Amino acid sequence: MSIVTAADVEAAGGRLLLRPGQRLTPLARDRAKELGVEIVEAGTAAPAAPTGSPTPPHAAPVPPAKDISASASPPGATAAASESARPFAPLVSGAMYRRNGLGPQGRAIGRDDANGGAPRPRAGVVGAGHVGAMAALRLAESNLFDHVAIVDVVPGLAAGLALDMWHGAGLYGFSTPLSGSDELSALRGCDYIIITAGKPRQPGMTRTDLTAGNAAIMKSVCEGIRQHAPDATLVVVSNPLEEMTHLAAQYTGFAQSRVLGMAGVLDSARFCSLVGLTGKARPQDVRALALGSHGPEMVIPLSQAFVGSKHIESVLDASTLSAIVERTRESGGEVVKLLKKGSAYFSPAESAAAMVRIMASGSNEVIAACVRPQGAYGLTDARVGLPVRLDRRGLKEVVQLPLRPDELQALREAAARIAQRIDELAQLPSTPGVAAPAASAA
Ligand code: LAC
Repeated sequence: MSIVTAADVEAAGGRLLLRPGQRLTPLARDRAKELGVEIVEAGTAAPAAPTGSPTPPHAAPVPPAKDISASASPPGATAAASESARPFAPLVSGAMYRRNGLGPQGRAIGRDDANGGAPRPRAGVVGAGHVGAMAALRLAESNLFDHVAIVDVVPGLAAGLALDMWHGAGLYGFSTPLSGSDELSALRGCDYIIITAGKPRQPGMTRTDLTAGNAAIMKSVCEGIRQHAPDATLVVVSNPLEEMTHLAAQYTGFAQSRVLGMAGVLDSARFCSLVGLTGKARPQDVRALALGSHGPEMVIPLSQAFVGSKHIESVLDASTLSAIVERTRESGGEVVKLLKKGSAYFSPAESAAAMVRIMASGSNEVIAACVRPQGAYGLTDARVGLPVRLDRRGLKEVVQLPLRPDELQALREAAARIAQRIDELAQLPSTPGVAAPAASAA
């Protein structure tokens, strides 16, 4: 027996010849009804027209029934397997309400007010682990995007999550459709892509322990992005952050301004939230920037930190502030230790989504991001967390803040250590020419 699918019906024209041993799926039968495709069973005389309803003189001639036996599914294929083999075929009719109808053809409903009525950008997320899934949901919720595509190497994972999120659209109050795929080609047309693909840390691991494995994953992800979304701006979340951001730029060949590393927003937010634990301020009233690395060389210049309009050093004493800075630096590890499996995701996901929203909405706020310094703060190479402004295409400018000499010195030391780690990437056996899975959940 072989199976005739909705896709076969769509390709059939006005009539479809069903040979002995061929079976129509329920979806294919519905689709035939919707499209008015006549199903002709081989060996039965095709009725010219239903009795009592003569063909009107202006009716178009009925095309011959198409024999789809050559293209139909192989014998033994199940209906589900056959239809899920092409999970993103555009189903533009009522059939989509029955099954599998959420694909990249979905468009957000309504005008893009934040963009002067211009078409909304498309966003993609690679890696449908906790960080990727949550980031995708936060992007969709913002209603700033035309579509959010999620990609993960695990078959069905991204599609299932996207569908689940879309089921909640009315509850959350968003109208941006999401789609999921295990193919990087689903990122086609994306203006922004968050890369979360890679292994997360386990207890006892440093971020640097992830370098070799995640470099190989990054390579294959970037090759797909270069091919399918060559105009995208990237926000890298995978660890170790600075090294992976550097590799993303190298593997895609994208302009430096279009490859950003995420963690400064996250580390700044962690600092603000820990200040909130003192009871002296709400997290949202604290302004601070975590620069340097997403790791031991994190630099939080207290000269640039405020509670409301007050300088933070006039609100909290030096030893409290120093303990908060230290705990911020260790915050990722603190969560890993508590979770025992995997790493933080709510705040990392929101941090990455916030960067994409800032770009898409044209907000001019100063945030911390991992970028190429290109001379700012006397730094010329590597990649390091710096204060930046973003525009719709990525890095607009590095913002020069009046750091104290000790803060500037710490930032330069951080950049030098990162540069050293990036130089060491050249020795990785897995970096050049390694084929790796398209993505794995971070
Ligand atoms: C963390 C990961 C995102 O700090 O590095 O939780």
